[in-house]
Amino acid sequence: VPLPERYATRLPVPPVLRPARTDGTTDHYEITARPGLARLVPGHDTAVWGYDGLFPGPTIESRSGRRTVVTHRNELPRPTVVHLHGGHTPQASDGYPTDLIAPLGATAGHHAGGTNGMPGMGRATLRPERVYDYPMNQRAATLWYHDHTMGFTGPNVYRGLAGFHLVRDDEEEALGLPRGPRELPLMIADRSFDADGSFAYPAPGPHGTEPGVEGPYMNGVLGDVVLVNGAPWPVAPVDRARHRLRILNASNARRYRLELDPQPPGGGGLLQIGSDGGLLERPVAHDAVELAPAERFDVVVDFARYPAGSRVRLVNRLGSGGTAEVMRFDIGTARVRDDSRAPRGRLSEVAKLDPAKAVATRTFVFQKSEKNWTINGQEYRPGRSLAAPKLGKVEIWRFLTDFHHPVHLHLDPFQVISRDRAAPGRFDAGWKDTVDVLPAQGVEVAVRFTDYAGRFLLHCHNLEHEDMAMMAEFVTE
Ligand code: C2O
Ligand code: CU
Ligand code: CU
Repeated sequence: VPLPERYATRLPVPPVLRPARTDGTTDHYEITARPGLARLVPGHDTAVWGYDGLFPGPTIESRSGRRTVVTHRNELPRPTVVHLHGGHTPQASDGYPTDLIAPLGATAGHHAGGTNGMPGMGRATLRPERVYDYPMNQRAATLWYHDHTMGFTGPNVYRGLAGFHLVRDDEEEALGLPRGPRELPLMIADRSFDADGSFAYPAPGPHGTEPGVEGPYMNGVLGDVVLVNGAPWPVAPVDRARHRLRILNASNARRYRLELDPQPPGGGGLLQIGSDGGLLERPVAHDAVELAPAERFDVVVDFARYPAGSRVRLVNRLGSGGTAEVMRFDIGTARVRDDSRAPRGRLSEVAKLDPAKAVATRTFVFQKSEKNWTINGQEYRPGRSLAAPKLGKVEIWRFLTDFHHPVHLHLDPFQVISRDRAAPGRFDAGWKDTVDVLPAQGVEVAVRFTDYAGRFLLHCHNLEHEDMAMMAEFVTE
């Protein structure tokens, strides 16, 4: 297909979803996953699977401590499961990969669709709709919701099943960060297009066989065009003022090293204020930030550091060609008032989990087997648990790999305590729920699971690796 001109599309911002109803303690939302059409390449419609038919899905905004209930329905031809990534969520609403929402026309109780050859899918439960109940007992942070269907998360998310879920609280609001049109959620995801303008997700195997570790899935599925909020290489017109960018890497497998080009005078253009799990203790100025799949960086950029009328690109130093360019900010010439405050000094308290208090140390080895990707030599199987951590106790979890894997934990965030037997890296600060583990580098994290007993997941967030069984269950008790 003729790819769109770079920087010809305006940055879309996903709509904020209105609650269907609210009562004293709870906001109720309704979302339907369904096919939709998007005009991404000139002259062609791209079919997407979206929440409410949109890619990205509508943004949910929750208040910390205020219960949020989302009823999800499914009008897609395949089953889906919804997971709130970064949510501190009881098991029943966590989006377990076999807790399916029935596809259109399917009868409850019957399971439709294949399993990518994975055993254990027989335990699947199928319902025409599901009510996800989120207590939202957690601090302000940039969360996102996405499909988590066993064996099919990669293709489902690639088709568009992802959206933002922002949590706000008083502490963060007191900081006077940029808001309204100066607060931009940026969902970065790469895609390839077929000749007819549709998303090109590689068909499994040359003869319709199962995907294999040596095939196009080895590194996960990589696209050649970068989309931000669903638009290829968009432009955002911005005021000459501070902006808050909530950057999410929603790509199936691609890592980015994002940098402003040109840098503002003196550098440090990306002032990081938060990570996966909300505010850092203090802001950290970066020239570039690295994001593995599912990681979030909350940064403030002060466009007043550039001359009026500047054009500033956000580039990806790990990409080439169409994946080296991400988006552009066109700074206005009008004199504007900036009523935000510059983030400086203490932003929040990030109480350290004390590794000396750890009651257990567990090692998880992420590696390839002949046919699949495994954790401690095991392929994911529902009901087979690799660990039983005690609620309320600190543990040390060590992640070792032979390859590059972004490792994600459900239920609670963690703190990185070492990388490659040395101090945590530049991009490991704060509360994390996904950590970029590089080949032959061990990463140790301190984690304390709280509140909810049940089975939760630990997995690689390279979605093709996840679909090829690099996922494990742990049971909190
Ligand atoms: Cu974002 Cu278990 O996933
Ligand atoms: Cu998650
Ligand atoms: Cu992986």
